[in-house]
Amino acid sequence: MAGLIPQSFINDLLNRTDIIEVIDKRVSLKKQGNNYTACCPFHQEKTPSFSVNQDRQFYYCFGCGAGGNAIGFVINFDQSDFPQAVESLAKDAGLEVPRQESEAQAKKSSQNNILIEALELTSKFYQFQIRNHANKATAVNYLKERGLSGKIAKEFGLGYAPPGWGNLTSALGSDEKKQKILLGAGLVIERTSKKEHREDHTKSNNHRYYDRFRDRIMFPIRDSRGRTVAFGGRVLSNEKPKYMNSPETPVFHKGSELYGLFELKKSGEKFNKLILVEGYMDVIALAQMGVRNAVATLGTATSSVHLTRMFRQVSEIIFCFDGDNAGNTAAWRALETTLPLMEDGRQVKFLFLPSGADPDTHVRAIGKDLFLDEVNSATPLEDFFFEKLSKDLDTNSIEGKARLSNLAKKYIQQIPRGIYAKLMLDRLADLLGMPADSLDQLFTAKQPESSIKDSSTQQPAEDYGRRWSKRETPSRRKNDLSGYRKPASLKAIELLLRNPEIALSIKQELKPLYTAEDEGRKLLISLIEMVQKNPEIDTFTMLGYCYGTSLGGQLTQLLNSEKITPIEGVEEEFLQIIDNILSDIIHKINLLALKNELRTKVYSNKNEIS
Ligand code: UTP
Ligand code: MN
Repeated sequence: MAGLIPQSFINDLLNRTDIIEVIDKRVSLKKQGNNYTACCPFHQEKTPSFSVNQDRQFYYCFGCGAGGNAIGFVINFDQSDFPQAVESLAKDAGLEVPRQESEAQAKKSSQNNILIEALELTSKFYQFQIRNHANKATAVNYLKERGLSGKIAKEFGLGYAPPGWGNLTSALGSDEKKQKILLGAGLVIERTSKKEHREDHTKSNNHRYYDRFRDRIMFPIRDSRGRTVAFGGRVLSNEKPKYMNSPETPVFHKGSELYGLFELKKSGEKFNKLILVEGYMDVIALAQMGVRNAVATLGTATSSVHLTRMFRQVSEIIFCFDGDNAGNTAAWRALETTLPLMEDGRQVKFLFLPSGADPDTHVRAIGKDLFLDEVNSATPLEDFFFEKLSKDLDTNSIEGKARLSNLAKKYIQQIPRGIYAKLMLDRLADLLGMPADSLDQLFTAKQPESSIKDSSTQQPAEDYGRRWSKRETPSRRKNDLSGYRKPASLKAIELLLRNPEIALSIKQELKPLYTAEDEGRKLLISLIEMVQKNPEIDTFTMLGYCYGTSLGGQLTQLLNSEKITPIEGVEEEFLQIIDNILSDIIHKINLLALKNELRTKVYSNKNEIS
């Protein structure tokens, strides 16, 4: 559920939660004097340096410096974000998490509802046209030729956008306000020039807008709750582009939507696997043939958002792309995106189709039963992976082995540490003809000291305690901030959140910081003040405060992605950043003053001349 979690609730929750219970549920604790101890779950160690204090409701690891309260522990241990951790603790405490919807959020959701209402009406309009338009036979015949039954067409809400520039605009855009809504929903396009307006005026209507979808079969794209959020439209001929899709709108994010998910849920059948295909028609043909568990991305590459959404429903995914070059490339890219999500218990397979086939033509050619047989005997990810990597290599030669090891390493390291990663490693060791243990050592070898220092681009080697490596090529995972250079103010906030006490060693005059307009700098000064007023404050109370700001999500992610920072040098680094920010601000202030001075001079010169 969206909305802010009130700070008072977080305090209440922490009061009712016992950190000993929370941790003991996940890591078995031993009582030792006033404290409880264990081997640290956040780094590898043989003797326990992880300690939990019941009075202070705080954990701390003397080995790696990880520390925090119950919420912080759950965030780190369960690899969840702040709201998820609060939800989980609240559940254990039998509490419901209250949410405050901010005014801005309320406004946004009512605007989204207006767009969805227009999209729903539009879907009804297109469905009406396929039954009643003078041209309906062209559309209906097209669908029949492609083998679609009336029943399945109805179930997927297929419709028809008739030829012409203003059908929808005239039907649903009777006034300026309604036309603006259609525009916002991506259903109409604004004419760019007066000339175009005039020309089209002679063609059909005198609106400022024209219909985006004309003379196309319309596929409503529904979100998982069944609300129409966008459309795909297919031409009835071989014209290009074959499909036209709604643009991104506040209610439609192409990169995360899965076509067919709602229809699958509505079918009422329960599945333990999902088949991911490329096209609208693939999903519909499979459904008609009785394979109800297929979903499609919308002309975009498979993203981690797609996969995460799918793994929320099932533990097994079968990629079934078209039997062509593009399909094979898409399969390998999907594999790359999947690796970091391969937690134990998840399974991924690839069903490769004959050349020239797509799931639509294939299932119609061989029928449901054979298709399901093929699904069941699809190629496991690991087979595809090693086959592809060793394809052009001579794995009998030393050179080939070294090359394979190098290629495989960067991929295997992305798999979350667990049984699956271990099995992949074993398999590689097998191929290389070397013991898995020595390969493991090779892969997890410490990075050189110099790279540990720069935690904004490198993971400290200790991080291997839970993950092989969370770092990935920045271009591939846009949402993962760990590989990016973040603004200095965010880095300072991160350091401060992990080590609140460093705010007490600031000697500089902070006044200039109060003039900052940048979100990060504003948050930084608030947090510094917070610690200076209340030196006992802990990380997660501060994080709770941050979560209420626009930077909250980003910070939770940062803290999550780099769990362990070396303790040494933190204070110096923090003070250095503060110094840099201050001098940047002062520099800007001076520059502004200088400009003003110059301007005054120029003016007075002018006055003298005239
Ligand atoms: P395909 O070309 O495989 O489409 O594109 P398809 O579903 O097999 O189409 P039919 O069978 O010829 O009708 C797969 C998906 O890529 C997107 C669409 O989402 C399509 O379903 N796509 C394709 C576009 O967005 N635009 C295009 O021009 C083509
Ligand atoms: Mn097709």
